[in-house]
Amino acid sequence: MKWKTLAKAGLAVALSTALLFGCSSKNNADPNGQKTLTLATSADYKPYEYTDTATGKVIGFDIDLANMIAKELKLKIEVKDMDFNGLIPALQSKRADLIMAGMTPTPERKKSVDFSDIYYESKNTIITKKGSNLTTAKSLIGKKVGVQLGSIQEKEAQKLKLNAISINKVPEIIQELKAGRIEAAIVENTIAEGYTTNNPDLSFTDLPNSEPTGSAIAFPKGSGYVKNFNQVLKHLKENGKLDELIKKWFQK
Ligand code: ARG
Repeated sequence: MKWKTLAKAGLAVALSTALLFGCSSKNNADPNGQKTLTLATSADYKPYEYTDTATGKVIGFDIDLANMIAKELKLKIEVKDMDFNGLIPALQSKRADLIMAGMTPTPERKKSVDFSDIYYESKNTIITKKGSNLTTAKSLIGKKVGVQLGSIQEKEAQKLKLNAISINKVPEIIQELKAGRIEAAIVENTIAEGYTTNNPDLSFTDLPNSEPTGSAIAFPKGSGYVKNFNQVLKHLKENGKLDELIKKWFQK
């Protein structure tokens, strides 16, 4: 009788332990058994991602959002800064687990990576020195137009048959513009807003997009994380947390 009770108790402990661990591994949204994910970004894109001069750390909307999602999935994020043009190669060669860099999910990129749902919409703009009459795609023909190397803006400029000058980092594009070495640049609206606020000698106008824009998270092809991240993104859209982040970084 005593033995039976003991055995029963033992069984109960074993069962509940199995349940506990069974449960936690089920809820562990980390299909690869990894705890820290390496996030590749190109920290030249304020307010999406940029280096905080005071701390030397990469901060911004994408970094906050990455950490917010990671927290729900019980993961940690480690940020790796690199050239925008090197982001997808880094993912493909497993030097990174995901990309958040204001990256647009284009059909071409979808051949080499998988994207999450779009988490922020954007538009293209033409940024010039104030007083310039370069305000339409047509007016840019024959002019030197700065674009970021490897970006959809570079593709757009090529499509419009412009004299595109591809530049590695976005702040360098603005420097070239201010120095008069290029006459205009194509950048996203939020980026243009930031630069024109800080540089009263610059202004911008919208450039109608010929292709969809917006930002999504990139993962290696076939990654199980896409589903998990999309679930959390959906949740953050519904509970207003994503809107809070958008207000924090884009509506200052
Ligand atoms: N949305 C554009 C693209 O996907 C530009 C993104 C640039 N991002 C950056 N962190 N510099 O091509």
